Amino acid sequence: MSGLSRISLTIEETTLTRFDRWIQDQGFPTRSEAVGNLIRNALVSDDWNSSDKEVAGVITIVYDHHKPAILEKLVKAQHDSGAVVICSQHAHLDHSNCLENIIVKGKVADIRLLHQHIESIKGIKHAVITMTTTGHHL
Ligand code: NI
Repeated sequence: MSGLSRISLTIEETTLTRFDRWIQDQGFPTRSEAVGNLIRNALVSDDWNSSDKEVAGVITIVYDHHKPAILEKLVKAQHDSGAVVICSQHAHLDHSNCLENIIVKGKVADIRLLHQHIESIKGIKHAVITMTTTGHHL
C-alpha cells in the first residue's frame, strides 16, 4: 500500500450536508473512507473506458440449455477469447434455465469481445458484465 496524502476540498454547504448524510447511511466511518471509495470507483470505471487496460470482471449469463448446440457455442466462445477466462460457475436455476458466472481478467477489448460473442449466441437470454479491477494501482 502506498503512503497517505492529506488533501482539502472546497464544496457547497448543501452538497456537503447531503454527502455527510449519505456517508452515514452507507456506513462509512469517515469522510476520507467515503471519498476514497468514490475515487476508486471512478478510476475503475475509467479503466473500463480504455480498450487496452488490464481489468477483471464477471460475465453473467442466463440461458436455456435445451437450445441446440448452445453449450458447445459457449465453450468455443470462451476458448477463442484469448485466455481471458479464469474460471466459470454454473447454476441450474430450474428445469430449463442455467446461470453462469464467467470470471475474466485481461484487456478490456478482449473481455468486451467475449461478451459480444456470448450475447449474440442464439438462446442467450441475458448477458451482462460486472466491471471491477485486478486490484493493482488502487
Ligand atoms: Ni444448468
